[in-house]
Amino acid sequence: MIKISPSLLASDFSRLGEETERMEKCGADMLHLDVMDGRFVPNITFGAPVINAIRNKADIIFDAHLMIDEPLEYIEDFAEAGADIITFHLESSSPADETIKKIISCGCRAGMSIRPATGAEELFPYLDKLSMVLVMTVEPGFGGQPFMADMMPKVTALRNEINRRNLDVDIQVDGGINDKTVSAAASAGANVFVAGSAVFGAEDAEYEINLLRYLAEKNYPQK
Ligand code: DX5
Ligand code: ZN
Repeated sequence: MIKISPSLLASDFSRLGEETERMEKCGADMLHLDVMDGRFVPNITFGAPVINAIRNKADIIFDAHLMIDEPLEYIEDFAEAGADIITFHLESSSPADETIKKIISCGCRAGMSIRPATGAEELFPYLDKLSMVLVMTVEPGFGGQPFMADMMPKVTALRNEINRRNLDVDIQVDGGINDKTVSAAASAGANVFVAGSAVFGAEDAEYEINLLRYLAEKNYPQK
């Protein structure tokens, strides 16, 4: 139920293969892959060829977060590269329904994300087709920013709607998640936690992952 997804954005980019293996050995549930195109966000990271290059280093679930303007054009590339979950932004230029369909037809699980300024209810029409929704808890583009606690009502609104409709949709939070902020996000109803600097900046990544999972489990609302 509770999953920890370390973000490779905070890893040593000169050793992406080893960092991928290391996260699997440390017990991460998934590996979060931040794809940025310099248009949707003011930063450029990596694309499908890099994901493909690290795919054979571990069996861990690849959780691709596309912060790109035209995700629909690239879904096949990311699926072929080995992404398991593909999350795109509601605010991107691609038509949402078509993009979700494409992700699923490529054999992947579909996720949809909202930036801080976008309301939770904008995701409601898509919930029955999604495996995951991602509520950004920072403005997307860079790691190491402070957690926006004022996003928590959006998480709770989504959790209530998902429960009300009896759906099985994960709620992911991304940005500023660490051992001080994970509890608030879990009590609001999030169950998938992206952590970049908290995990890769920790002296003991395995300990940090276990701590985040423990705190999240302790605070996640019991039905
Ligand atoms: C930000 C990215 C995040 C980022 C999180 O745009 O989507 O995944 O890596 O980094 P931290 O955990 O350091 O805030
Ligand atoms: Zn991300």
